[in-house]
Amino acid sequence: MKVFLALTICLAMTQGRVTPDYFPQCKKSDPEINKCIMQAIEVMRPRLRDGIPEVNIPALEPFAVPTLKLDRTQPNLRLKAVVKNIRALGGSNFVVEKLKLNLNNKYAAEVRLSLPHLAVSADYDVRGSRLLVLEIDGKGKLRGNFTGISVIAKGAAKVVEKEGVRYLQADKIVTRVKVGHGQVAFDDTERPLAAASAANFFNASPGVVLDILSPLVDETAAAVLKAFLNKVLAKIPLHEVLLEDDHASPSYGMPF
Ligand SMILES: *[C@@H]1O[C@H](CO)[C@@H](O)[C@H](O)[C@H]1NC(C)=O
Repeated sequence: MKVFLALTICLAMTQGRVTPDYFPQCKKSDPEINKCIMQAIEVMRPRLRDGIPEVNIPALEPFAVPTLKLDRTQPNLRLKAVVKNIRALGGSNFVVEKLKLNLNNKYAAEVRLSLPHLAVSADYDVRGSRLLVLEIDGKGKLRGNFTGISVIAKGAAKVVEKEGVRYLQADKIVTRVKVGHGQVAFDDTERPLAAASAANFFNASPGVVLDILSPLVDETAAAVLKAFLNKVLAKIPLHEVLLEDDHASPSYGMPF
């Protein structure tokens, strides 16, 4: 047993860590694991602005999403749009209000975040769409400021194994996004007057429009979050960040 342990330690050391040295670790059996993870997030925060390429964490300032295709029909809304070159500023100022992990035979988490301010810009192309009585057709640039944002995300992950190393992959993620206030402007290349009245319509009662868009925002946020998480999780060997108890699993139990 001793020989085996020494061997695995040697092996682990020569293979080295994938994650950077400053990467925090938490013990799976830690009764205060929620606190440990929240502290880990704070340790990482300054580096999140520019991203951490070693583990595929993209820059949060600005946070970029190349393309979103939206296609949704519901009462009061018919939306067909392609939104490109989305850039959001302010994402790194997120506050973790609450975090609850459940690691009893699963990997499940619920997190509540708030974001004081998000400034978004994007290119849009909207066809044959309608919100309430407002017909929307056009192409151009949109800019928007959104404040008082709260996000509740619930998700579960499963373990996948690649070349003998275990990783987590997000399985199911649902989010609930609330936006306190918003103001938008459209620089439309095709129908500037219609775009100006659409912006006026939104800015006069952002709450009404955001309510109608809410299911779409929730789904889009969940999809973006899932893609983001899976890119990152695929690069972080589980045993490097979530330490098992020594006796439970010697090969993953390296105490460093
Ligand atoms: C967003 O806020 C910035 C800074 O306050 C301001 O310059 C910009 O015009 C605002 N954009 C919109 C669309 O209201």
